Amino acid sequence: MKLIDNQANIHSLRKISSLFSTTSVEIDELLAMVIDTASSIVGTRNTSLLMVADEKSKRLQFYQATGKYMGKLRDIDIPPGVGIAGLVAETGETIVSNDVQNDPRWYRTVSEKVKVTVNRIACFPLLVEEKVVGVVQFLDKRDGSEFKEEDLAILERFSRLLAKFFQLTRNRAALGEEFDRLREIYMQRYLIVGESEAISKCISLAERVADSKAPVLLTGESGTGKELFAHLVHERGRRQTRPFISVSCGALPASILERELFGHEKGAFTGADSRKIGLFEAAHTGTIFLDEIGEMPLDMQVKLLRVLQEESFIRLGGTETINVDVRVVSATNKDLDKMVQRGEFRQDLYYRINVINLKLPSLRERKEDISDLVTYFIRKYTPEGQAPKKIDKNLISHLVAYSWPGNIRELENSVERAMVLTEGDTLTANAFPLESTQVPVEINVGTTLKEANDSFRRAFIINTLKSTNGNRTKAAKILDIQRSYLSRLIKELNID
Ligand SMILES: Nc1ncnc2c1ncn2[C@@H]1O[C@H](COP(=O)(O)OP(=O)(O)OP(=O)(O)O)[C@@H](O)[C@H]1O
Ligand SMILES: [Mg+2]
Repeated sequence: MKLIDNQANIHSLRKISSLFSTTSVEIDELLAMVIDTASSIVGTRNTSLLMVADEKSKRLQFYQATGKYMGKLRDIDIPPGVGIAGLVAETGETIVSNDVQNDPRWYRTVSEKVKVTVNRIACFPLLVEEKVVGVVQFLDKRDGSEFKEEDLAILERFSRLLAKFFQLTRNRAALGEEFDRLREIYMQRYLIVGESEAISKCISLAERVADSKAPVLLTGESGTGKELFAHLVHERGRRQTRPFISVSCGALPASILERELFGHEKGAFTGADSRKIGLFEAAHTGTIFLDEIGEMPLDMQVKLLRVLQEESFIRLGGTETINVDVRVVSATNKDLDKMVQRGEFRQDLYYRINVINLKLPSLRERKEDISDLVTYFIRKYTPEGQAPKKIDKNLISHLVAYSWPGNIRELENSVERAMVLTEGDTLTANAFPLESTQVPVEINVGTTLKEANDSFRRAFIINTLKSTNGNRTKAAKILDIQRSYLSRLIKELNID
């Protein structure tokens, strides 16, 4: 399966990821500098920094060491409570020993491994929020003298500083992980699955036009991925880091849509008790996605056209002209050509928004993608930590035989439903009762034209409603009729 990703975005995501690691490299350098400074002020011979490797086992591991010893120290693990460092880590108390060779607490394994004889040690805990996250040990003074009170006072202050650096490193690491999780989610969201020629053509056209400002009109049946592609066009272009504002043009009455798009000044109408920025302004330098543009009332179409032509507008109740730089992506499942002919959609607006037409194929036209899509949706709906269900060998041919009037959305819903209903680890055709969802239309000679007409309409509406999971608004859209008319038909034709 080919998972299309967003090259430009992935590039910037990688850059951020690498910044997280660069910063921890920088912190390591800083740590080394702090250790060097402490060592040279007090005149110590060797210093090493050990970290608590994991919270559970509390084992210590070498993190940094002066001299050439780090290579040999890297693999050494010190169990909690063992040796001076282990005791400091366990108790959180500083230990100073001026006669290590005769100190029973001394853990010989390490010094023997690196072949260094140690006589004196000052070992400090690194405390972050009262928890020991590591220890720092200063070994021997160059002049051979003992660690004195004033040496210890200085080293202790440096140790506290080191602990702060550790805390910083940890926060960075946690931030880095959080960022990686976000990146995962992001990659999941704009994944366009499928390798058929039909969808590949759409992807490459979307990529080619992404960087330009040319208006894009996405057309295609319901559930073919128009919204997904709108995001794709935005995310692959230069505006990817700028806002993406989505407007559902069919959902609101004209007057409210106008306020939403252009915003208003305080007192522009009753209830306008403060200034409100409109969606066009919010989308400045980014992309505005005008979804269901075919539903936009004619008088709003005029206003929209003006904004698109002039790239400026005035807030409701305002006088100031506001200039905006917005990339327009629109979508519809209606036949705008026909709507223009019928006078339901303005021709000038149609030309304006339809500079680049991206017609998304129906699922029927790219059945070779069904297998990849099913695999993808199974993964999408598998709870974290669970193994994804397998696909029975007969399932794909069963799915390919169906016509998918609700397209990818219908396929996605079917997979989700089948996964809930399947107890075993394999999805079979039984979990997809598709044939039976298509009500057959049997019309025999001898019935009246009205009866034939009614039974056809009844079956057709039931099938469409099934493809939308009973959602009447979506079904009305597919049938290209008003929702209220659909409700009337449902009643009239006795559909429940
Ligand atoms: N190629 C694809 N790969 C993966 N998922 C897809 C693909 N195309 C569509 N989908 C998924 O199918 C569902 C429907 O897609 P989308 O909402 O973009 O369709 P639409 O064309 O806008 O439909 P409508 O006209 O009903 O608004 C979404 O959940 C979307 O993520
Ligand atoms: Mg949509």
